[in-house]
Amino acid sequence: MTDKIDKWLRSGPEAVLRKVGLREGNRVVDFGCKQGRYAIPAARIVGDSGWVHAVDKDKQGLREVKRQADKEGLRNIDTVHVAQYGTIPIRAGTIDVILLYDVLHGGYFPEKAQRDNLLRQVHRCLRPGGVLSCCLTHLRQFGWTYKKILAEITDAGFRLRRRSRPTLVHDGKLVRVHFFRFTKPG
Ligand SMILES: C[S@@+](CC[C@H](N)C(=O)[O-])C[C@H]1O[C@@H](n2cnc3c(N)ncnc32)[C@H](O)[C@@H]1O
Repeated sequence: MTDKIDKWLRSGPEAVLRKVGLREGNRVVDFGCKQGRYAIPAARIVGDSGWVHAVDKDKQGLREVKRQADKEGLRNIDTVHVAQYGTIPIRAGTIDVILLYDVLHGGYFPEKAQRDNLLRQVHRCLRPGGVLSCCLTHLRQFGWTYKKILAEITDAGFRLRRRSRPTLVHDGKLVRVHFFRFTKPG
C-alpha cells in the first residue's frame, strides 16, 4: 500500500488537476492549500503564462509551499496568508479556477455564516465562466449530507456541472472521494 501511496503522491495530484481542466495560462487559487499538494503541481501545469495563489491560514504550510516552489524554480506561485474567516485579498473577477479541496467541511467551517462568507468571496474572485472545483470530505463525520452542502454552493450562485469519484490520498490512505465541478455563470 505504501508503494501505491508514494506513486500517487508523485503523479496523482497533477493527473487530478488535468482532469479538472487546469490549462497553461490559467490563474488559480488553491484555498486551504496546506503544504501545496495541489498548488505546486497546479503551478507546473499553468506555466509561466499562468499564476497560482496558494492561500491558507496556516503560516507553516505556506512556508513549505514556498520552499518547494523555490526548490523547483517555480516563479508563478505566491503564498497568501489569510485570517481565519477573513477576506481573500485577490482582485474580483480575475481567477479562472478555484480549488476547495478537503476544506469546506464542518471541522473548518462549522457555521453556515462562515461557509456563506467563503463562498461569497470565491464567487467574487472568479471570472464569469470560471470554475470552482470542490473535493468534499468528512461530511458524515459532521452530520452533513451532499444535498445540504451542494445546495449551499448553488445558492451562492454556482452551477453544478459535473461529479466524479477519483481515487486519491486522503488522510494517508488511498480512497475514492467526491469531486464536484461548478461554474460561475457568465
Ligand atoms: C485538510 S487540509 C487540505 C489541504 C489541501 N487542500 C489538500 O487537499 O491536500 C485543510 C487546509 O485548509 C486550511 N484552512 C482551514 N480553514 C481555513 C480558513 N478559514 N482560512 C484559510 N485556510 C483554512 C487549513 O489550515 C489546512 O491547511
